[in-house]
Amino acid sequence: MKKKITAPKIFSMKNREKIAMITAYDCPTAKIAEKGGADIILVGDSLGMVILGYPDTLKVKVEDIIHHSKAVSRCSEYALKVGDMPFMSYQASVEEAVKNAGRIVKEGGMDAVKLEGGEWYINHIKAIIKAGIPVMGHIGLTPQSVNLFGGFRVQGKTIESAKKIMRDAKLLDEAGVFAIVLESIPEELGKIITESVSCPTIGIGAGRYCDGQVLVFHDLLSIPEPAYFKFVKSFANAGKTMTEGVNSYVLAVKNSKFPEESHSNHLNRDVLEQLKNS
Ligand code: KIV
Repeated sequence: MKKKITAPKIFSMKNREKIAMITAYDCPTAKIAEKGGADIILVGDSLGMVILGYPDTLKVKVEDIIHHSKAVSRCSEYALKVGDMPFMSYQASVEEAVKNAGRIVKEGGMDAVKLEGGEWYINHIKAIIKAGIPVMGHIGLTPQSVNLFGGFRVQGKTIESAKKIMRDAKLLDEAGVFAIVLESIPEELGKIITESVSCPTIGIGAGRYCDGQVLVFHDLLSIPEPAYFKFVKSFANAGKTMTEGVNSYVLAVKNSKFPEESHSNHLNRDVLEQLKNS
């Protein structure tokens, strides 16, 4: 029988086996992610953009993450389930960070949490770990700081910025995170960080040398249509297949081709006669 993947197991995969992480937000996406063999399922705050139609992740609430985490945890058995801590669920204080991380695990059924930022949140991260909750770090382009960055821009291109990201990675590693997401940084920086920390790095737009990769479910499957970000590869055009399927259904209904006899239930003859004569 397949063994449940734990945070220590992910930590131990560094230099042994690449780690495949994918987002999921509900029961079908969790089932597909797990059947597809993902090691980690992330209920990302990307759900704000991908599922709820917001322009960024800033409006996502802890309740949204818990709501979607519940569905994912009901429908995934083996993958490590990580719940994202949304904007302002941990920034204000260590106490809030621990409380909200606890809710995502206790109410949402997640195995671990992920939060954005390095140096500024080290005490928050240590306190969450102390409470018994494994933490995944996330540095580089951290989407909750989009207004600070002035847009979704590649980070770490100047010496100051690269050094800051390296320092954040070192502090996160020392604080005891079990993995670090590196988002939208140059490949060279991704490689240097990966070689300098003891925990696995999981890249998204961070080049080829991270210990694992993460992509948003809908991006890698082109749902509803292909995502034209430089760091995304479309592994299947599911959006096209789904749209064609819906269109075939609509045409079949309009042309009285669906339902067919095989899709119908029937009354027995006696009941039918009685009904007609009543
Ligand atoms: O919210 C999210 O989906 C993420 C990943 C893209 C890393 O943070």
